[in-house]
Amino acid sequence: MTTAPVTELMSPSNTRVGWIGTGVMGRSMCGHLLKAGYTVTIFNRTVAKAQPLLDMGAHLADSPHAVASQSDVVFSIVGYPSDVRHVILHPASGVLSGLRPGGIIVDMTTSEPSLACEISVAASSKNCSAIDAPVSGGDRGAKNGTLAIFAGGDESVINKVNPLFSRLGKVNYMGGSGKGQFAKLANQITIASTMLGLVEGMIYAHKAGLNVELFLNAISTGAAGSKSLDLYGSRILKRDFEPGFYVNHFVKDLGICLKECQSMGLALPGLALAQQLYLSLKAHGEGNLGTQALILSLERLNNVSLQSVASSEPSA
Ligand SMILES: NC(=O)c1ccc[n+]([C@@H]2O[C@H](COP(=O)([O-])OP(=O)(O)OC[C@H]3O[C@@H](n4cnc5c(N)ncnc54)[C@H](OP(=O)(O)O)[C@@H]3O)[C@@H](O)[C@H]2O)c1
Repeated sequence: MTTAPVTELMSPSNTRVGWIGTGVMGRSMCGHLLKAGYTVTIFNRTVAKAQPLLDMGAHLADSPHAVASQSDVVFSIVGYPSDVRHVILHPASGVLSGLRPGGIIVDMTTSEPSLACEISVAASSKNCSAIDAPVSGGDRGAKNGTLAIFAGGDESVINKVNPLFSRLGKVNYMGGSGKGQFAKLANQITIASTMLGLVEGMIYAHKAGLNVELFLNAISTGAAGSKSLDLYGSRILKRDFEPGFYVNHFVKDLGICLKECQSMGLALPGLALAQQLYLSLKAHGEGNLGTQALILSLERLNNVSLQSVASSEPSA
C-alpha cells in the first residue's frame, strides 16, 4: 500500500486510517470506515470498548502515537478538550509525535476553537494538516451514517478527506481552523433552548391533562416539530434516559459556549438558563444520563412527574 499524495482523493487502496475514541459515537463512525474497506488502526483508553471494532477487523495500537505511525489520516472523537490535547499534542504519546509529514489529523470531538487552532499550527510545523470536524446528529446519526459534520481548516484537505466523511454523514465547510468548532457550538446553543422548549411543552401538556404521547405526535408535523422531538420525545415518554448524548458532555459544550460568549461580550440568556438546568442534573448525580433527562430537572422544579405516563399512555 502506498501513501496518498496530497492531491489524490482518499480511498481504501491508498489510505490507512487511524481512529482514537471508540465510545458511543466513535464506535459506529469507525465501523462505517471498516465496512467501506479501509484498513483501520484504533486506540481507546478502555480497550474493552474497542472490541466490537477489533471483531470487524480493526488493528489495535497501544497509544495514539502508535496509531499515527501506521496511518495517513487519524480521526479522534474523545470526551473533553483535555482529552483532545492529550491524545493529539502529548509530546511522547500523542498523534502528532507519530505522524509522518503529509499526514492529516481530523478531530471530531466537540472541543474549543482555540485548541483547534493550536493543533493546526502544531501540525503545520511538522508539515502535517489538521481539520476540526465536530458532528451533530446523535448516536442515531452516527449509527445511520447521517451526521452533520462541521469542518474547519484547509478546504483542499477537507475535500481530500471527503470520501471518508461521506461514509459518516454530510460535511459542511465552515471556514478556516476553529470554524468547525464555532459552528458546532452555535449548533449546541440552538439545541439547548430547543430541548428546554420540548420538555416544558411536555410538562405543560401533562399538567393540562393531555395525553402527552398524542400531544407529541400532533405537534411533530407542525411548527413545533424538531429533531430533538424526533430523537428524544419517545425516549422521554418511556423514561429511557440511556445516553445518547451524555449530560456531562452537554454541560462541557455549554460551558465552552458561555466562555466564548464572555470573551465576545455576548449575552445569550437562553443558553445560560439551559446550562444552569443541565448543571442541576449533574448536581443530582445524573451526569451520565442522556440529555433527554432534562425532563427530570423540570419535574423537580414543578413537583410533577411524567413517570405515570410511561406506563399508562396508549400507543398512538
Ligand atoms: N453522543 C452524542 O450524541 C454526541 C453527538 C455529537 C458530539 N458528541 C461529542 O463527541 C465526543 C464523544 O462523545 P461520545 O458520546 O462518543 O462519548 P463517549 O462514549 O464517552 O466516548 C468517548 C471515547 O473516547 C475515549 N477517550 C476519552 N479520553 C480519552 C483519552 N484521553 N485517551 C483515549 N481515549 C479516550 C473514551 O474512553 P473510555 O472508554 O475509557 O471512557 C471513550 O471510549 C464528545 O466530545 C461529545 O460531546 C457526542
